Amino acid sequence: MITEENQIILNNQQLHGRDFLTLADYTKDEISHLLDLADYVKKQKKNGIAFEPLKGKTLGMIFEKSSTRTRVSFEAGIYQLGGMGIFLSSKDIQIGRGETIADTAQVLSGYLDGIMIRTFSQESVEELAEYASIPVINGLTDTYHPCQVLADLQTVKEVKGVLQGVKLVYIGDGNNMAHSLMLGAALMGMELVVVAPKGYQPDPVITEKASKLAEQHDAKISVVDEPVDAVKGADVVYTDVWASMGQESEQAKRELAFKGYQVNEELLSLANPDVTFMHCLPAHRGEEVTAGVIDGKNSVVFQQAENRLHAQKALMTALMG
Ligand code: CP
Ligand code: NVA
Repeated sequence: MITEENQIILNNQQLHGRDFLTLADYTKDEISHLLDLADYVKKQKKNGIAFEPLKGKTLGMIFEKSSTRTRVSFEAGIYQLGGMGIFLSSKDIQIGRGETIADTAQVLSGYLDGIMIRTFSQESVEELAEYASIPVINGLTDTYHPCQVLADLQTVKEVKGVLQGVKLVYIGDGNNMAHSLMLGAALMGMELVVVAPKGYQPDPVITEKASKLAEQHDAKISVVDEPVDAVKGADVVYTDVWASMGQESEQAKRELAFKGYQVNEELLSLANPDVTFMHCLPAHRGEEVTAGVIDGKNSVVFQQAENRLHAQKALMTALMG
């Protein structure tokens, strides 16, 4: 008899050993499998049933930027799966003193079973993955945040029951979150509208890539600069900070550019009555979102944050199991 756990292990075979650098490297079926596995892992945890497929495995976690959710959910997650995590601040390891990414990748591959990295350039993550013989997971770059979107897809599915056809309106900076949401929505057959002022819209190359993916999956991706019309009919409204990590010196300039793009009660009232509000966190109340919205009844931001744990446990199980 094939048990639920055996079935998961069978389905994981095609993902074993793979990197997770951007959602564009995965098929709809693969993402669907990860989401099913995330639901299973969450159910086991809620029922107090141990799920420890990574006994004896070690994840290295390189951080070149700050983190609360990513660090704690990966470290707690690998421990709950039976393994252990090693936190590696880039300031403390030799990478911070100029050791090459290629050498670091090859050295760490001899000790570890997987590497999670949060850094600035997507190219660094790609270089690490090229030289590492173990799976590399992107824990955020300036370009993408695929782990966040995996958890977000799990959350939308929990709240709306489906992903196909759900209209998600992302209002704010065309940043790493916008890019990964475009790819995730395109793969999963959603309608995604990015609303951002000119000069802060997503990278056109990534928009083009997402639009091509969307055509294959009955999804729709668009980029506009006017929030009021865009938000009509929205099932989900999503926002993120106006100045991301590394852009602190642009804070004042960006506050001016994004005036009129705040998700507040008035804007949210134009969406569907059962609209869900999402934010990857950390949030700045009074800037990209009002306290009334993020702390209000439509907000699922803490469910989203919790799902980082479950979605990444599924990811580690699939890649490293
Ligand atoms: N959403 C997210 O990645 O949060 P952290 O920066 O705290 O990891
Ligand atoms: N866009 C934000 C996301 C933080 C999780 C940043 O890069 O700082």
